[in-house]
Amino acid sequence: MSIYADEMRQTAQAMVAPGKGILAMDESNATCNKRFAKLGIPTTEERRRAYRELILTTPNLSEFISGAILYDETIRQSSQAGVPFTQVMQNAGMIVGIKVDTGAKDLAACPGEKITEGLDGLRERIAEYYQMGARFAKWRAVITIGEPIPSPTCIETNAHALARYAALCQEGGLVPIVEPEVLIDGNHSIERCYEVTDQTLQAVFTQLRLQKVAFDQMILKPSMVISGLECPVQATVDQVAEMTIQVLRNNVPASVPGIAFLSGGQSNQRSTEHLNTMNVKYGALCPWRVTFSYARAIQQPALEYWAGHDANIPAAQQLLYHRAKLNGSASLGKYDPAMEKQTVLV
Ligand code: 13P
Repeated sequence: MSIYADEMRQTAQAMVAPGKGILAMDESNATCNKRFAKLGIPTTEERRRAYRELILTTPNLSEFISGAILYDETIRQSSQAGVPFTQVMQNAGMIVGIKVDTGAKDLAACPGEKITEGLDGLRERIAEYYQMGARFAKWRAVITIGEPIPSPTCIETNAHALARYAALCQEGGLVPIVEPEVLIDGNHSIERCYEVTDQTLQAVFTQLRLQKVAFDQMILKPSMVISGLECPVQATVDQVAEMTIQVLRNNVPASVPGIAFLSGGQSNQRSTEHLNTMNVKYGALCPWRVTFSYARAIQQPALEYWAGHDANIPAAQQLLYHRAKLNGSASLGKYDPAMEKQTVLV
């Protein structure tokens, strides 16, 4: 058992405390720059820093955000006033998280499929991040649906890597967020998404068990079971909620403290509605907390409003706070679409 077991159990519980979710703001420089470029924001280290400061200094964000996942560049940065972001977060009552994978690369011999890298030197990087104040980590595996993929090779190799990452995290005191993302891209049906998500979660939990990962000291970050973006028949919110909870109940041990979904390219409102419906209709059946770990579905309105201009920071922060609040409500099954229109002071 890890010497950090008690601390990690407490951290995992705090990450999914009632009414709270985890903010993903760990876009790599390449991804962050892509989103900046679309809005005409300079793709510089300073603008990335300024944007992350905007997020982390949003007043009262910790009412709905238990912790945030940072990128390696961000965890080493400071506010304009010179306070390290790790300290800014601790002062605001948010737990520091860190993305530790180094990205999804082409999987040899498997055209169109990816394997996530980052295991080399991971033990040492975990030790450094723990020293810097991080208490949880994230690793994202990517599963693509197509014809005839995903291959068993892709599912098994990614599951194996996720479990190696998770075991190393627990050895070093970081709660692993285990993120197997089944991509929303494609014209597949929701039934096909269910089948692939089921196979993926089976493989992931088999590997986690085999590699002695403690289920009560981890968080699962799955994608929802959903129709492909280009599927002519789009499932209803009720169908997504029902099939997502079903696949999770079939695969996720009750001792996992929480499930925190990614948004994966769904619209902001849909991401919130799906989460809310899962909690309203099936909350009583779920042994784990069901919440969010969104990036785009929380950040997008704030990023667009800010658009790189410091004068827009206070209003952008209100937009961020508002989306965090809506998702916090959804994690309790207390969201109402009418809340979307609640005026924010912009
Ligand atoms: P999205 O919510 O934008 O899908 O991002 C979540 C995440 O952390 C992806 O790794």
